[in-house]
Amino acid sequence: MTSASHSASHSAGGTQAPTRLRLIRPDDWHLHLRDGVLLQAVLPATAARFARAIVMPNLQPPVTTVAMAAAYRERILAALPPASTFQPLMTLYLTEATPVTEIQAAVQSGFVHGVKFYPAGATTNSENGVRDLRRVYPVLAAMEKHGLPLLLHGEVTDPEVDIFDREAVFIESVLRPLLADFPGLKVVLEHITTAEAVDFVRAHGERLGATITVHHLLHNRNALFRGGIRPHHYCLPVLKRERHRQALVAAATSGAPEFFLGTDSAPHLRGQKESACGCAGIYSAPAAIELYAEVFAAAGALEQLEAFASRNGPRFYGLPENSDHIALELRPWTMPEFLSIGGDELVPLRAGESVAWSLVPDEG
Ligand code: NCD
Ligand code: ZN
Repeated sequence: MTSASHSASHSAGGTQAPTRLRLIRPDDWHLHLRDGVLLQAVLPATAARFARAIVMPNLQPPVTTVAMAAAYRERILAALPPASTFQPLMTLYLTEATPVTEIQAAVQSGFVHGVKFYPAGATTNSENGVRDLRRVYPVLAAMEKHGLPLLLHGEVTDPEVDIFDREAVFIESVLRPLLADFPGLKVVLEHITTAEAVDFVRAHGERLGATITVHHLLHNRNALFRGGIRPHHYCLPVLKRERHRQALVAAATSGAPEFFLGTDSAPHLRGQKESACGCAGIYSAPAAIELYAEVFAAAGALEQLEAFASRNGPRFYGLPENSDHIALELRPWTMPEFLSIGGDELVPLRAGESVAWSLVPDEG
């Protein structure tokens, strides 16, 4: 259970908010680590906070085979800070050419934990994704048989569909029939952004999980246009209305086992964000768990953070909970304006602004 000590400086009477938290070390169930220098730059922040992460396969070229996932995993392990025990949980990128034999190989590998479905054209590096779902039905049947989860980017790509409706339309037109056709398939609806998604996931119980990012818990779509266009708040699925943000906060803080932490931290260099056609993706890794703590504190639900961050994910994926802990203290710090990487820069979420919680050594 979460243990929370109470500040003696707070006035007596009323409910005192905890100022220190100790959690089973959390995992990040949806993360982009990229490759090369970018991987080197972003991995330490995640490894300092999380024990494991489901690593997205949307590299160029995409990670479509177990052999490619094995090589990528080795590059991640080689980029870890000394003595880090962080474990990358690998995924395969589903294409219409993925053979059924690759699913058997994935299950046998022991290090591939899911297969990622990108509707072709939905987001960053999704060109090789799926156009016709029927073409991957044999692969989905094999995943259902072996218990390998399908991880969904849940947005339709039809340019006629309003961008703010693409998730809700996906749920009815793709996800509902998919779940009916594969009643035993484990599915994660990734980075949910709408009240419709929350309701749908709640109604489907055990075999359907959902990750929720910290930026969708913190921000509504006004953040995209505050005083001018804000490319560092642009991600996919795009931020939604306030009522949707509130539904996400209610889901995340409810303790319900189908909702778990997935940052979707998705770094792009400054020039690729601040552009006439800027990339989608928010880089939240440098304060990920601290910012989730802010959300849970604001909702008066810090006691539910451990379920969301450290228990529900392993339970869905059939993995053990982590055996060590992290500690957080209510002590503000300022996120740097940017992080230097080679001759370039990465702008993190909350750049130049205050973060309320600090990661501190766990004193047991
Ligand atoms: C992700 C990326 O940059 O790889 N971008 C994003 O806005 N979330 C891709 C994705 O998860 O959609
Ligand atoms: Zn993502």
